[in-house]
Amino acid sequence: MGLIKDGITEVIATTRYNAAPMGIISRDGRLRMVLFHGSHTEKNVVNEGWIVANFIFDPVVYVRTAFDDLPESDFVETEVDGMTMHRLAGAEAWAAFRTEIQKNTSEALIIDLVPLHEEIISLTLHSLNRGFNSIVEATVHATRYLREPDPALRRLIVHHTGLVRKCGGQREQEALELLEQYIEI
Ligand SMILES: Cc1cc2nc3c(=O)[nH]c(=O)nc-3n(C[C@H](O)[C@H](O)[C@H](O)COP(=O)(O)O)c2cc1C
Repeated sequence: MGLIKDGITEVIATTRYNAAPMGIISRDGRLRMVLFHGSHTEKNVVNEGWIVANFIFDPVVYVRTAFDDLPESDFVETEVDGMTMHRLAGAEAWAAFRTEIQKNTSEALIIDLVPLHEEIISLTLHSLNRGFNSIVEATVHATRYLREPDPALRRLIVHHTGLVRKCGGQREQEALELLEQYIEI
């Protein structure tokens, strides 16, 4: 089991027919997630006790799943440790976890992840593109901005969307157009 690296790995987390960008925190050999209250991901984790980390490098998927749902046809059913899990058909790799609720604060549910299984489907070289990184950054700030319209967050979004325009390829530009449909900047 080595797909999740030390630090915070951003993935598309899937639960029952749901996908959302989420960070997996790996520190001192322990894996955790902080699920802010109110997401479908939180609700499904509480009800079912599992999550799948999907490794996917399509910027459009990051934007779409942050604000919207994917059709059920984008998911694949997989049996892991006696549980029927849903992962993304388009993922290059995936890792499945059992979840254990560690703490419930006023802001978020903190869960421990117990690794069960992981699989690499295709190995692709992803060259570094600041446009891709900035789409991820702009999207994460946009999800926060929608909850709390702080001008500092707006400045970060403007900065990162500028970088997407400058450095991104066609798919990053498409992701940016989609982002602009969800949030007025
Ligand atoms: C790169 C990225 C990382 C994110 N990480 C988290 C996270 O660790 N925890 C969280 O609660 N939300 C996180 N979010 C925000 C959720 O993706 C967002 O609230 C989403 O709407 C939840 O979707 P759901 O209701 O389908 O679960 C992140 C967003 C992005 C773009």
